[in-house]
Amino acid sequence: MTIALLTITAYFFGAIPFGLLVAKSRGVDIREKGSGNIGATNVFRVVGKGWGVFTFLLDALKGFIPSFVFPMIGNLNGDYGVLFGMVAILGHSFPVYLKFKGGKGVATSAGMLLGVAPASVGIGFLVWLICLLLSRIVSLASILAALTVGISVWFIKDSQIVCIALSILAVLVIWLHRANIKRLMNGTENRFGKKKETSA
Ligand code: G3P
Repeated sequence: MTIALLTITAYFFGAIPFGLLVAKSRGVDIREKGSGNIGATNVFRVVGKGWGVFTFLLDALKGFIPSFVFPMIGNLNGDYGVLFGMVAILGHSFPVYLKFKGGKGVATSAGMLLGVAPASVGIGFLVWLICLLLSRIVSLASILAALTVGISVWFIKDSQIVCIALSILAVLVIWLHRANIKRLMNGTENRFGKKKETSA
């Protein structure tokens, strides 16, 4: 009963569209601007740096709280954090409040990783940062970071549940970037520092 309740709570918590709400508080419908994504990157791009960082923190909390705090609330084994964290990410990416059209799961995944596999956050962030500095393309940095986390977790974590979940998560995050991948392939992906923006 507790597990079911916490799982459902994780979904509805993850589904809160913070990017949309933050942008709306500044008078912007984020779905109509920039890439059209409701995530922190687009808020950063369209509304401003501070608001983007704020959105990232809120979205990351949606992954961290279910994965780290929920097992404690339910007095459960820490591995349940994987379940609650994954469900929160599904909530973020497929929110019932927005007809199941949500974000790409990067910030929420980072929060979940902090809760269940903190070493992976360090590795993922390093890859993300280097790639971003070299390319100025956030989506490319996110895709490579997801790939790195999904593979490297097998070398640094002994819990099989965590390894399997993070590999599935990597595939999900990359799939959620499919529109970005198309743009990367035809050379039209949004790049920080350039004016033109393409969407979805
Ligand atoms: O976290 C999302 C990021 O990887 C890409 O965002 O707005 O450029 O599609 P965006």
